Amino acid sequence: MSLAFKLSRGVLNTITPPIPLAYTWATKYRLSHGPLLDMSQYIHLDTWREYQVSLRSPRYRKLWLWRLRRLAASVTARLKESLFSVRQWQTRCALYTGDTIAINASDMSLTSGCNLAFVATIMTLADAGDEVILPVPWYFNHHMTLTMLGITTVPLKTRPEDGFIPSVSECQTLITSKTRAIVLITPNNPTGATYSPEVIADFSRLAHERGIALIVDETYRDFITTELPPHSLFSKPSWREHLIHLFSFSKAYGVPGHRLGLVVASPTFHTSLGKVLDTLQICPPRPIQLAIAPILASLRPGVIQTALALEARREIFRAHLPPGWSIGSIGGYFAFVRHPFPGHGSAEVCQRLAEELGIVVLPAAFFAAELDESEDRWIRFSVANCDDDRVRAVCARLTKCEAVFGWEKEA
Ligand SMILES: Cc1ncc(COP(=O)(O)O)c(C=O)c1O
Repeated sequence: MSLAFKLSRGVLNTITPPIPLAYTWATKYRLSHGPLLDMSQYIHLDTWREYQVSLRSPRYRKLWLWRLRRLAASVTARLKESLFSVRQWQTRCALYTGDTIAINASDMSLTSGCNLAFVATIMTLADAGDEVILPVPWYFNHHMTLTMLGITTVPLKTRPEDGFIPSVSECQTLITSKTRAIVLITPNNPTGATYSPEVIADFSRLAHERGIALIVDETYRDFITTELPPHSLFSKPSWREHLIHLFSFSKAYGVPGHRLGLVVASPTFHTSLGKVLDTLQICPPRPIQLAIAPILASLRPGVIQTALALEARREIFRAHLPPGWSIGSIGGYFAFVRHPFPGHGSAEVCQRLAEELGIVVLPAAFFAAELDESEDRWIRFSVANCDDDRVRAVCARLTKCEAVFGWEKEA
């Protein structure tokens, strides 16, 4: 039906969220090779189930009711304090440990999820016509936000030979008087690449020197299993001059539908961010804040268990992937894998995988605006929403591609 009014140019220029398309492909699958195997998305159900159980237990229910009755205005402050203390004691899968970390509760704003944190951060930083640098392949919601706001996305290519790690010197050449921010995601969505502390520090230096913001989205940070923190940016108080850290509770704590995210930045930045948040969604939902604040520390062992389980599952995937399919990078929730069929784009391959073999995965084409032939050979597999057996089953089914598709594999 046509509309009698016009729509925003920004919205019209923005792509439609692509994931539903992958599920449309899957509806055509006729179960000819067994049940549908979904490695497209990212909710690790174990943690989610544990969380549900913990909320159902009488102890936590009592706590909930008590807290809901009080509905104390201090809940947000309490959650910030919990986060702060978790960061201090954490040693594994974690983060900004030690006495030197310089984050206070006044450096944090809680948001209704990390996507909203990104939208609000960008609205605070940039105007229509400004530029923001995104490594490619990008997280499509970041690109969608920029397009919608009339902000130009400046692509910073990442390459398989570099493990999909962006180059600081290449980034330097992309900065103009219109650049407002560089955005990093580590561990990355979609590539899984985890940037080293040195690379992150180099980007931080560059942003600081050039007077632009460095936004680091660390939604998947809890799935790093080394003993070392992912970076040491927070150890100098000067981090507040240019760094903006984003975090999502959706993954680590398995609560995607409850919409809870975090922005860590200078209190001066938060004063302006507060104006934006006040118009978008004044505060994140209270029930999740009330529920999670008192139990945050007790959920940490579960988070660490999940991180270790995902690490093991990534290894199972690596070990069982059939010849011809090669991993370009892997980490956090994702493996970025090159398919073995030259001349066929990633979307075409993913469509046939879903429709004919019942494997749902996402093509590189969903994570970039333009790709050349070699860039369009990559597929994102998520190890987060299926168990170890399904990962083995996906790998076994991939061996049938050649025969089912009738395509020749790369020699
Ligand atoms: C890099 C990245 N940032 C943010 C999000 C969204 O987080 P939230 O569910 O908190 O909005 C996702 C995935 O859903 C993501 O992959």
